[in-house]
Amino acid sequence: MILKTKLLCNQSNYFFLKNTDISEAKYRLSLIRLGNHSVLAIIALISIGSATRVMEAGLACPDWPLCYGNFFPASHMNLQVFLEWFHRLDAFFVGTVILAQFILSLIWRRYLPCWVPKTYSIILFLIVLQGSLGALTVINTLASVTVTAHLLVALLILITSIFVNQNLEIKEIQSEKSGERILFSQIFWWKTSICFPLILTLLQSIIGARLASTWSAHLCLDFHQQCINLNIHKLFAIPTGLSILIPIFISFSSKQLFVNNNKLLISIFILLVLQISLGFSSLVTNLSQPFILVSHQLIASLLIATLSALFFKQQNNFNFIETKNTKLIIN
Ligand code: HEM
Repeated sequence: MILKTKLLCNQSNYFFLKNTDISEAKYRLSLIRLGNHSVLAIIALISIGSATRVMEAGLACPDWPLCYGNFFPASHMNLQVFLEWFHRLDAFFVGTVILAQFILSLIWRRYLPCWVPKTYSIILFLIVLQGSLGALTVINTLASVTVTAHLLVALLILITSIFVNQNLEIKEIQSEKSGERILFSQIFWWKTSICFPLILTLLQSIIGARLASTWSAHLCLDFHQQCINLNIHKLFAIPTGLSILIPIFISFSSKQLFVNNNKLLISIFILLVLQISLGFSSLVTNLSQPFILVSHQLIASLLIATLSALFFKQQNNFNFIETKNTKLIIN
């Protein structure tokens, strides 16, 4: 409604929007709202997954997909069973929301670009893969490769969901004095500068998951064994951290780039400082504080989510609605 009013108020300056375009905007907003819920649920799911590992609750439910043969294992409930059970419940919620998005995108396909249902079907495939890996972690009694692959697929689902959300976004109509246009070459270098920290943070998280799931950090601190894994993780934090600073510096070269992205840029800086502090704190406390370990995983997924949002964000001041056949530019 707000969008419709804004569009109509600006009629004299911009193209007149047909009813179909307004319906499209409405459908996009509904999908974005659902998408925002699923992104939050995925981040919560990754953190609960980490808590499940830290509390050694990965095998608290011996069967799958039920827990002790029940949907709610009341008679076996304790902290470990609760974590594993809640992890599965949240996974079920994420799967249902993404299935709903896919079905809605099929129903509304007349109004949406064709990449939308296609991308939801890819996310659905990843969800099925993730469910199977979840089952495998129980069957393989938490083999490190399965646990690491489980985190990788979770992060891929997160990145793809953010891709859809950012591309569905219709920028609000801005005033005519909306600022300078960002050059194509600037956008190219900008995207490249974010691509590197995104890939490096993803790799660093996978190395971290491998470190955690082989209990190498514990073995290194307690018995000076398998220290290579911990050393690789600590060393790799240097290029990862430095690469996260690059887009922040590049944004200073263009006022418009900085204005468009300042909230996300400040967020990645704060998240990076937090992540490195948590990493060191986990070692100083001899990996004895579950809160620090789970927060380290939470911040890693927030870093990946924020970098993805930055990478997929539309940068210019075009206000457009891309329908199946046309791209309507309002600016
Ligand atoms: C951008 C930088 C970093 C990222 C993205 C990152 C990410 C991760 C991730 C995703 C895990 C797996 C957590 C889990 O499965 O619960 C992990 C584990 C770990 N990280 Fe990092 N990390 C970073 C920097 C650091 C630094 C600088 C240190 C220490 C100096 C550190 C120390 C550790 C340790 C000790 C573990 C194993 C925890 C355990 O065994 O429970 N990390 N990291």
